[in-house]
Amino acid sequence: MKKSVYLIIKFLITGYNLIKEKILVTAALPYANGRIHLGHISGAYLPADIYVRYKRLNGENILFICGSDEHGVPITITADNEGVKPQQIIDRFHNQNKIAFHKLGISFDNYSRTSLSVHHETGKEFFLEFYNRGILKEKKSIQFYDEKAKMFLPDRYVEGICPNCGFEEARSDECENCGALYQPHELINPKSKITGEMPVLKETSHWFFPLGQYQKRLEDYINEMNNKYGWKENVLQYCRGWFKDGLEDRAITRDLDWGIKVPIDSAQGKVLYVWFEAVLGYISSTKELSEKLGNKNLWKDYWQNENTKYVAFIGKDNVVFHCIIFPSILMAWNDGQNDKYVLPQNVPANEFLNFEGKKFSKSRHWGIDVWDFLNTFPPDPLRYTLAANLPESRDTDFYWKEFQTRNNSELADILGNFINRTLTFVFKNFDGKVPDKRVVDKIDSDMLLLLSEYPEKVSKLFESYKIRDGVLEIMNLARAGNKYFNDSEPWKTVNSNKDKCSSTLYVCLQIIYTLAELFEPVIPFSSKEIFNILNSSKTDWDKCGKENLPVGHVLNQPKIIFPKIENEIIELQMEKLNASDSKNNINKDDLISIDDFSKIKLSVAEVISAEKLEKSEKLLKLKVKLDNEERQVISGIAKFYSPEDLIGRKVVMVSNLKPAKLMGHESNGMILAAEDVDNNLIVLSVPNNVKNGTTIK
Ligand code: 2FM
Ligand code: ZN
Repeated sequence: MKKSVYLIIKFLITGYNLIKEKILVTAALPYANGRIHLGHISGAYLPADIYVRYKRLNGENILFICGSDEHGVPITITADNEGVKPQQIIDRFHNQNKIAFHKLGISFDNYSRTSLSVHHETGKEFFLEFYNRGILKEKKSIQFYDEKAKMFLPDRYVEGICPNCGFEEARSDECENCGALYQPHELINPKSKITGEMPVLKETSHWFFPLGQYQKRLEDYINEMNNKYGWKENVLQYCRGWFKDGLEDRAITRDLDWGIKVPIDSAQGKVLYVWFEAVLGYISSTKELSEKLGNKNLWKDYWQNENTKYVAFIGKDNVVFHCIIFPSILMAWNDGQNDKYVLPQNVPANEFLNFEGKKFSKSRHWGIDVWDFLNTFPPDPLRYTLAANLPESRDTDFYWKEFQTRNNSELADILGNFINRTLTFVFKNFDGKVPDKRVVDKIDSDMLLLLSEYPEKVSKLFESYKIRDGVLEIMNLARAGNKYFNDSEPWKTVNSNKDKCSSTLYVCLQIIYTLAELFEPVIPFSSKEIFNILNSSKTDWDKCGKENLPVGHVLNQPKIIFPKIENEIIELQMEKLNASDSKNNINKDDLISIDDFSKIKLSVAEVISAEKLEKSEKLLKLKVKLDNEERQVISGIAKFYSPEDLIGRKVVMVSNLKPAKLMGHESNGMILAAEDVDNNLIVLSVPNNVKNGTTIK
């Protein structure tokens, strides 16, 4: 090719890529204070992943962005509860969640974290831009201050009695029970959750973003987006509620030391409010990706490009932050800068998924997290079950029994069976090759026509974020395939009319090809296995309903893709759930009297020596000091502590336990310990100023 022609083509391709719409998809950044559970997955990550995978099959220019939200009070509360530093919490859960997402096939292009410097810089840049342009208002307010902990208490750190309904666990300015909003001084009997002391009210100052000034523009923006792209009714309802109440100035700083430091001298000890910066985490995650790919401008190509279509997937609790706060922050930035950010074109928020009829609850051990789930089951049955039951317009439930039925009666009996019976037949009668299409009767041409309509049918649903309906529709194609197979009776025609039989199997194989592609966004691991059996690979989405497997194409031997889940396995899960539930809801008959309790003598004991027991991985031999006696105790904590860690520590001991022998060593008491979220045993400790031998009451 002549060089000039080559250059012209290259120019056209580059130009096309620049103009071609780019798609940016974000999914809410989960707090790194716990493992993500199934509710999170159906709220945002699975619908987002299905949408993104579908768009990729359409050859779209798309980025899928997420990361851990590592600031804010939820993280510090978890750290305080465990007695560790926030850094330890975020490292643990960032890593676990990243792995869990990966195992579940959630195909982020980048999974970042808001503790990275690129994010801190982004947060500061936005704050300074607003501060320097005089957008922010500094205001004084009265807030609770814990004199013992020497800190202002964020709302969630104060608990008291609601002045409106008497609820005993109300927050400092809002009651979860009756929804009342009030001033902190109105809360009755306030208590600091950190020290248990009564906090005092003290003046502090914060910087406020003038949200009210953006109300009109926000309403116009949402109306325009809704008119053009059809927003979900539940999302519009939430927004209308906020507009009706009227938007007010919102503090974007907090008195805390965990977070992004407010970058001005007069704001010592303050950090940016987590919701102000977390939403900017989408931008910094994309910046991190740019760096990783060595393409400095990549993030701008998406974020600061008017041809970008930006879709933000979230759960319903995040609507106000994504439909009101985030767009207003971007509007404010865009007013003063030439490089303008795109605003979300759609925010298809889902309602909640409950678990067996009740809300997921970490503290009540109700539910299952993704990590544990994938230790027992493969990812695709979970993806399919959740996708078939997404809480798109109302709350839905995950039931273990439904999970089993979706797997056994749909994935295995409909989809798996159709693939298996077709391939087995082709191997038995057509040498494992795609047979010829010889006779096309009405039943065959009707089936081929139906098949050809599927990609568009499913597209329409996915494009309007009706992911659940799209998924159910794809399974209908597998149903239609089975019906076609039954009605065509190839087991008869194989003897009576081989040409007819050959055509039937030709059509069945084309259906399987289409199913493999249409199901790729939903059950990507199984789709890959189906393509392997077909000895083929995916094509463009709009071509997948055609006849893609040529006559004579060599296939691979079929194998079972969706093994059945036995009753015992499901029953075991139900038992586990009920056991952890009853652990927390103590049965009335199991209650003990104070006399029963006082039979157990708990004493403070100081560890004065510790050594490993030979031939035991589990046991440590400890010498502990009570008031004026020493005792030997054998304790099963060797896997979690080295002897030196324990010496000098004051622990809690059951001191009136009958002596026992463990591996030939006498033990005179029991040291108390509790399991943490990673199943490590943590020895209960007592502060050093409590005397040895003190009885714990
Ligand atoms: O609800 C949550 O888990 C928040 N961490 C979501 C943040 S989304 C965005 F702002 F980053
Ligand atoms: Zn109340």
